[in-house]
Amino acid sequence: MKVLVTGGCGYIGAHTIVDLINHGFDVVSVDSNIRSTTQLLDGIEKITGKKIHNYKVDLCNLEDTHAVFHENRDICGVIHFAALKTVPESVAEPLLYFHNNLTSLVNILKCIQEFKIPNFVFSSSCSVYGNTTALPVVEETPLGEAQSPYARTKQMGEQIIQDYSRVNDTQSILLRYFNPVGAHPSALIGELPLGKPDNLVPMITQTAIGKRPKMIVFGHDYDTRDGSCIRDYIHVMDIANAHTRALQYLLDKKNGSNCEVFNLGTGNGVTVLEAIRAFEKISGVKLNYELGPRRPGDVIAIYANNTHAREKLGWEPKTGIEDMMRTAWQWEVSLRDKVLSN
Ligand code: NAD
Ligand code: WQD
Repeated sequence: MKVLVTGGCGYIGAHTIVDLINHGFDVVSVDSNIRSTTQLLDGIEKITGKKIHNYKVDLCNLEDTHAVFHENRDICGVIHFAALKTVPESVAEPLLYFHNNLTSLVNILKCIQEFKIPNFVFSSSCSVYGNTTALPVVEETPLGEAQSPYARTKQMGEQIIQDYSRVNDTQSILLRYFNPVGAHPSALIGELPLGKPDNLVPMITQTAIGKRPKMIVFGHDYDTRDGSCIRDYIHVMDIANAHTRALQYLLDKKNGSNCEVFNLGTGNGVTVLEAIRAFEKISGVKLNYELGPRRPGDVIAIYANNTHAREKLGWEPKTGIEDMMRTAWQWEVSLRDKVLSN
């Protein structure tokens, strides 16, 4: 069974490829490397013994995308990760985000339609819920106003797939990730943010290792148990495994409709200060942080109801916050060791 993974050189795509291979799938990747290198493919090979072929193709180019599908007509499905994902960048450059994230999606759907690919899994995001106060969020929670052009590309992407699904036989699943963090336990693959990270966990590990002098906790006067924001951090290997299960669910024809939605979170809300304490505990490093002002656009608290994914996909997140931090830290240390040994 061969699967086409877009964005296979990126953070979540690479971890998912490992899980797919561990479950007996063959994988080909398409990634233009606009936000990555092929470094994680080397890590995948070390972990699994399998060399993954990556087509260095921009999915916004229909001709090139078509050629990839033409060469891989025998795939049983597509898992579509490729997208730009940086919220502040999307605010500064909305057209870049609409063009990249939506043109690529439409091109892929055109190819899926033409080559009659039966199954499709899409990377969506909890950001589609906007500033909701109904917690924990269920898949039926009405989507709020998107807080950024990035989030809007995910809302629009979901709608495009839903409209497409009404008139085509493709079976689709939309996976709404909460906050994916951590790395493969081997520390051979992990998150590789280009430039200064926006996300909490790479900011913590980069500060702890000395790449950044200090970090700011954005807001300490929210109406939460310690004043900092609450998020649902979820280990990237748990996210990865949900993709394998989603694909298998479609292959086994267990889906109730031809476009289903699943939240992927642990269901546990963790504050920023709790995340920092978990990091300090597992690493033994005292983090240099300051309590600072709120970050514009941040929701106060969001966490998932994951009952659908548990019941229908048989999925269960296995990793707690300390192991999320431990694997993220081991990955950061391995990056430093690599630099030191070169
Ligand atoms: P990432 O940036 O590490 O990986 C995305 C990959 O897609 C990159 O390797 C990039 O080069 C590639 N890509 C982007 N546009 C492309 C194009 N037009 N053609 C070919 N390749 C292209 O991101 P990630 O964290 O692995 O995220 C994967 C998916 O999950 C994205 O769709 C993202 O929006 C979504 N998501 C991520 C998070 C998160 O916090 N990481 C949360 C929710 C949803
Ligand atoms: C988490 C918490 C910050 C950095 C983003 C996207 C969302 C989704 C996941 C893709 C917040 C606080 C952070 C720092 C801090 N991505 N923080 N100091 O904002 O929940 O979600 O990634 O779909 O769409 O918006 O994640 O990791 O940026 O922040 O205090 O230096 O950490 O304020 O409370 P967020 P994050």
